[in-house]
Amino acid sequence: MPRQTMRKGRFQHAPDPRLQALNASIGFDKRLYAQDIAGSKAHSQMLAHCGILTKKESEKICEALDAIAKEIAEERFPFDAALEDIHMNIEAALGEKVGAALAGKLHTARSRNDQVALDFRLYIREEIDALQQALAALQKALVSQARAHAATIMPGFTHLQNGQPITFGHHCLAYVEMLARDRARLKDARRRVNQNPLGAGALAGTSFPIDRQRVAKTLRLEGVAANALDAVSDRDFALETLSAAAIIAMHLSRLAEEIVLWASPAFAFVSLPEAYMTGSSMMPQKKNPDAAELIRAQLGRAAGAFTDLLIVMKALPLAYAKDMQQDKEAVFQSLDALKTSLPAMTGMIAGLKVHEEAMRRMAAKGYPLATDLADWLVQEKKVPFREAHAQVGALIRRAEKTGGDLAKLQWDEIRAIIPSMTQDAYDGFSLEKAVARRVSYGGTAPKEVSARAEEWRKRLIGEKPERDQRKDQK
Ligand code: ARG
Repeated sequence: MPRQTMRKGRFQHAPDPRLQALNASIGFDKRLYAQDIAGSKAHSQMLAHCGILTKKESEKICEALDAIAKEIAEERFPFDAALEDIHMNIEAALGEKVGAALAGKLHTARSRNDQVALDFRLYIREEIDALQQALAALQKALVSQARAHAATIMPGFTHLQNGQPITFGHHCLAYVEMLARDRARLKDARRRVNQNPLGAGALAGTSFPIDRQRVAKTLRLEGVAANALDAVSDRDFALETLSAAAIIAMHLSRLAEEIVLWASPAFAFVSLPEAYMTGSSMMPQKKNPDAAELIRAQLGRAAGAFTDLLIVMKALPLAYAKDMQQDKEAVFQSLDALKTSLPAMTGMIAGLKVHEEAMRRMAAKGYPLATDLADWLVQEKKVPFREAHAQVGALIRRAEKTGGDLAKLQWDEIRAIIPSMTQDAYDGFSLEKAVARRVSYGGTAPKEVSARAEEWRKRLIGEKPERDQRKDQK
C-alpha cells in the first residue's frame, strides 16, 4: 500500500526528488512529534465526544498514537522523507497500526494548517516554560553574588570610563532586573501563544459539529482563536517569542562581554571557574573565557532567527502558504541557543571569584569622588550645582598637571580653587562613604543593595513554575 496517501487521488506522478529535497520538513519538524500526538489525541477524543467518531474508534486511535510516541521517543520510528512532514509520518504509521480506514477518519474536520499551528503553539509554550526556569536560575545566581558583594566596591563606568564607585552587588542586581523584564515579556507572549487554532480547518472553519473549547480545555489552552483565517495564517505568536528571545540574548551578550573584560589581566576583577575555561593548543599558559565569548555570540542566532521569520511572513497573502513551514527552524535556532547559553551563564556566575582589591584599586582611579565633592558644596555650602561642578572640574585640571592625584594637592592650592572647601570635609571623602551615601531607592549603598537582594531572594524562592504541560497531555 502506498504510504503517500495525500497523492492517492489527484496525482498521477510521483514527486520529483528535487521537489522532495525542498519540500520535506521531517528533518526538523520531527521535533514536534509529542505535540502532534497530544493534539491528535485531543482532536480524536473531541470527535468522539461530538459523535463524529465512536468512542471505540477514538480509543483505538489514541492507543496507537501512544505506541507511535513511544517508538519515536525510543528512536525506533522509521521517519520517511517521502511523507513530507511529521504530520503525515504519524498519520501513515497510524494507518499501519489501526488500518487505513480508521486512521483516515482522524483527519476529519482538520487540516494540516490548523494542526501545525497547534503543534507549534504547544511546542513554544513548553519552551517558554523551560526558559522561565533557566532565567530564574540565572537570577538566583546573580542574587547570591549580590548578597555576598553588597559592599564590594567596584568602578561604575559610563563610556567605559570611571564614573562613580558602585558595589558589585549593585551591578549584579542590574542584570536581575533585566532578566525580570525578559521574563515578563515571555509571560505576556505565552498568553497569546496559548490559544487553540484547531478547528479552523484549512482556513474557513468546518461544517462538522465540533467543540473547539473542549480541545482547548484538554490541552490547557487559555482560549480559542476566533477567526479561522487568522488562526492558520499568522505566526505573530512565534515572532513575539523570538523578539523576547533576542532581547534575552542581547542582555546575555552584555553580561558575557563584561565577564570577558573583568577576567582579562587588564581588569583582573574576577577569576572564572576553571570548568568554564578552555586552553590554547599552542600557548601553554592560556586559560580563555570561551563560555562567555560563545554566549556573547548567540545574539547572532537569536536576532537572525527573528529577522528570518519576520521576513518570511512579510507580505504573505492570507491564509497559509508553504513559506510558513520555515517558521520552525528559526524558533529552534533561537530557543536552542538560549537553552545552552543560560545554564552556562548561570554556572559561570555562580562560580565567579571576585577580586575585591583589584576592583577597589580601579575604582579609585579617574577622580571617582568628584561628584561627591560637588554634591558636598551644594548640600553644605549652598553653592549652585553648576558652580560646584566648575570648581571641582578646575581642581581636577590642576591635579592632572601634578601627576593626577587629588590627595597630593596642597591644601592652599585646593582653597584657592574651591574657596568654601574645609579640610575636614576634604579629607573625609572616601569610596566607602561615596557608596554608603547613595541610599535612594535602587541606589548603590550596601544597605540598599542588601535590601533589594533580599527582596529578590524571597521572591525567587516563592515562585511557582508554570504547570508542566506534559502532565496535561496524558
Ligand atoms: N509541514 C507543513 C508546515 O510545517 C504543514 C502544513 C502543510 N499545509 C499545507 N497546506 N501544505 O507548514
